[in-house]
Amino acid sequence: MATQLNETYNDQIVRLFLLAAAVWGIIGMSVGVYAAAELAWPFWNFDLPFLTFSRIRPDHTFGVIFAFGGSALIGTCYYVVQRTGHTRLAFTALANFTFWGWQLACVLAMLSMPLGITQSKEYAEPEWPIDILVGVVWVSFAVVFFATLARRRIRHIYVANWYYGAFIIAVGLLHIVNNLALPVSLTKSYPIYSGVTDAMVQWWYGHNAVAFFLTAGFLGMMYYFVPRQAQQPLWSYRFSIVNFWALISVYMWAGSHHLMYTALPDWVQSVGMAFSLVLLMPSWGSAANGLMTFNGSWHRLRDDPAAKFMVVSLVFYAAATFEGSMMAIKSVNALSHYTDWTIAHVHSGSIGWVAMITIGSLYAMAPRALGQPAMHSRRAMELHFWLHTGGVLLYVIAMWTAGVTEGLMWRATRADGSLTYPFIDSLIAIKPLYAVRWFGGVMVLSGMVVMAWNLWHTAAAARAHLIRPIPVPIPEPVAEQVPAPLPAYA
Ligand code: HEM
Ligand code: HEM
Repeated sequence: MATQLNETYNDQIVRLFLLAAAVWGIIGMSVGVYAAAELAWPFWNFDLPFLTFSRIRPDHTFGVIFAFGGSALIGTCYYVVQRTGHTRLAFTALANFTFWGWQLACVLAMLSMPLGITQSKEYAEPEWPIDILVGVVWVSFAVVFFATLARRRIRHIYVANWYYGAFIIAVGLLHIVNNLALPVSLTKSYPIYSGVTDAMVQWWYGHNAVAFFLTAGFLGMMYYFVPRQAQQPLWSYRFSIVNFWALISVYMWAGSHHLMYTALPDWVQSVGMAFSLVLLMPSWGSAANGLMTFNGSWHRLRDDPAAKFMVVSLVFYAAATFEGSMMAIKSVNALSHYTDWTIAHVHSGSIGWVAMITIGSLYAMAPRALGQPAMHSRRAMELHFWLHTGGVLLYVIAMWTAGVTEGLMWRATRADGSLTYPFIDSLIAIKPLYAVRWFGGVMVLSGMVVMAWNLWHTAAAARAHLIRPIPVPIPEPVAEQVPAPLPAYA
């Protein structure tokens, strides 16, 4: 066993990203709760430009996806690549730069959007100086990750790293291509694409941000932390590789399902629909693989809240991907598009799948990264689980009901062909559901505050370790293990 300090894992950077994820989770979801309140009770915008829904909404999406999700993804990625490779993270200074650079980009984006500085491209709102910063940070992240992978002391590359690797490469590519723009001032630029090409590039990006940021990256997290928490090997290692190749080769072609019934050529819309249906297979493949990994250790759900978060996240992943494939069918999309059904789908994917797999993984990782035997309070974890699960259920059930109500009311016509309902009637009908969604959001947010409290106390006990690396011995490489589901255990 090697025990020298300079050979230990770099968990300092992991702790920083863990802290950032907890803080951004609370900020991003608070803004979401505020936006939900504005939709239910519009006076909340106080007629102030920086508080209007249109400026608050992108602040929410950026805050939860890139600041919260991004910090959790980079932090867990650094944790996982070291454990599965039995090696220390490469380039400490560059890794530190990825932390501070990412946080700076998030702060600038979160401040500039309420001021009305935006490219008006969904999920790619920040203006060009921030885009350049993000690009530089992302390339540095790629260098740190792949250099660490190259230094690994076991021959096999564990599957979680495949997903993290695809996430890093694809997100870098998407970010650069979609943000090609001509700056006219420090705060304004125009995309180099125009018309329908601009729309297609934007939704190739938007959809693949879902695919590679909100899916592939979090699947990387899932493939490492689920076997660890279930305390047994992945159900089928080979199946995980088949799903990997299927997922990454199909996702890229499905983006046009966001542009059904638009000026996009009809056949491109049909290609998007067909690939979206095929996508269900690798999506359910991963969900099944994760769930089956718990076979034989379901009893852990009784007393391990982190495992509960993971199992429920996988159920939501299966549900959201099934729903997505159905919504990509043109006739279904004709009912769901522009309605709150899309918002229900988004949040069963994001609060259900993304946030829950993240929270489960952070609970699994935090004690180790903080040098503690367990989280400070298991009862607080239980409370968090029930607040989150109750909150997401209220959110999505309210929005499904609202979405179908809107869709049906908008399509209803009288015998003479005129619309049965004026638009305002549909808003009046769903207003109570907006209040229910807001309450669900408050529950989810309260759970995040409980998590932050718990992490704070877990970290407090390990204060000394926050300033010095913990001398964890790096295990010697295990002799040949191909296929090797077991390196997931650290
Ligand atoms: C406290 C929990 C949350 C609340 C209350 C909340 C609330 C909202 C609201 C009110 C909207 C605008 C809906 C509209 O335009 O009609 C929205 C949009 C969105 N939220 Fe959340 N949200 C929460 C958590 C999350 C999380 C954790 C994520 C991702 C990890 C997320 C991702 C998104 C996305 C991607 C959209 C845009 C949806 C679209 O354009 O179709 N949200 N959210
Ligand atoms: C098999 C997998 C999936 C398919 C086929 C799929 C399909 C779709 C479809 C058809 C829409 C509606 C487009 C529209 O009418 O405007 C949509 C919207 C969306 N989906 Fe999915 N989805 C999948 C999985 C997911 C997952 C797992 C997440 C989140 C983690 C997610 C996040 C979103 C978001 C954020 C939007 C809203 C985009 C926007 O308009 O701003 N999807 N998806």
